[in-house]
Amino acid sequence: MDCKKFVEEQIAEIKQTVGSATAINALSGGVDSSLVTVLGHRALGEQLKTVFIDNALMREGEPQRVVKTFADMGIPVELVEAQEEFLSALAGLTDPEQKRQAITDTFYAKVFGRLVRESGAKFLLHGTILTDIEETVAGIKRQHNILAQLGIDTKDAYGYSVLEPLKTLRKDGVREVCEFLKLPAEISKRIPFPGPALATRIVGEVTRERLATVRAATAIVEEELGDSDAFQYLAVLLNDRATGIRDNKREFGQIIVVRCIESTDARIATVTELPWYKLQHICERIISEIKGVNRCLYDLTPKPPATIEYI
Ligand code: XMP
Repeated sequence: MDCKKFVEEQIAEIKQTVGSATAINALSGGVDSSLVTVLGHRALGEQLKTVFIDNALMREGEPQRVVKTFADMGIPVELVEAQEEFLSALAGLTDPEQKRQAITDTFYAKVFGRLVRESGAKFLLHGTILTDIEETVAGIKRQHNILAQLGIDTKDAYGYSVLEPLKTLRKDGVREVCEFLKLPAEISKRIPFPGPALATRIVGEVTRERLATVRAATAIVEEELGDSDAFQYLAVLLNDRATGIRDNKREFGQIIVVRCIESTDARIATVTELPWYKLQHICERIISEIKGVNRCLYDLTPKPPATIEYI
């Protein structure tokens, strides 16, 4: 791919479309939204307002870490507190698509709607990539950031137009452009993390308590597999329980699944052959460090038929 040409074309197009209006974008810290933020700021400077929405679904310390990474590059990011709005929208929901829908609605209609009204932005810059579009259109999964491709007129529905500068790229292309732009490794090499965040790794209801459990497991898995070179690694909380023994007492405990995969673009994936001692060590930490968890499983399923995330 000709990265130079891609960057120049996208910057020119963003400039031309937005003109003298203002635009807004939500940064999740993932490689896609990070690249959009950088392209958007190069094109629009202060005409672009970048927000990080704290939706309660993020990993340990993530909001502060992301804001700092961008501050170090001279890009201001506003942290927007919206934990209660997301958690109350998710309360009681167990169906994967309903959960995704609740996150989409809370994000675009409620929280974003309010930010757009307050900022007067006419455009939203968005990190949609080609794989998101293909899978959504094929009906495999409703990626939370796909709107136009599903026939949703954002101008009508939410009051702003959406620009998607990455919609012709796949994940590997996004990383190539990040490297071309010399973005810090914590952005260009960052493992994929989905927009609906830890909610995609909780089967069943998303609550503060269940989020704390999967967040703790995620921190352990990321710490232990950070040097694995795998495409993606994650922890999932199942909506099931299993009997165990702790402190000589019966415990009907929670179950964490560890997933670690190899892929180039997330369309297909194989399972990483992690060394046994590594798996044992991760298991040991998860069952001893996280309250209420007494089983840890390693997922051996490739994509397809499984997806990478669990909802
Ligand atoms: P699946 O689970 O569909 O994941 O096999 C493929 C890749 O996409 C990420 N993913 C998402 N990314 N919004 C995103 O921005 C989403 O709704 C979403 N769902 C999954 C996932 O982490 C994997 O890398």
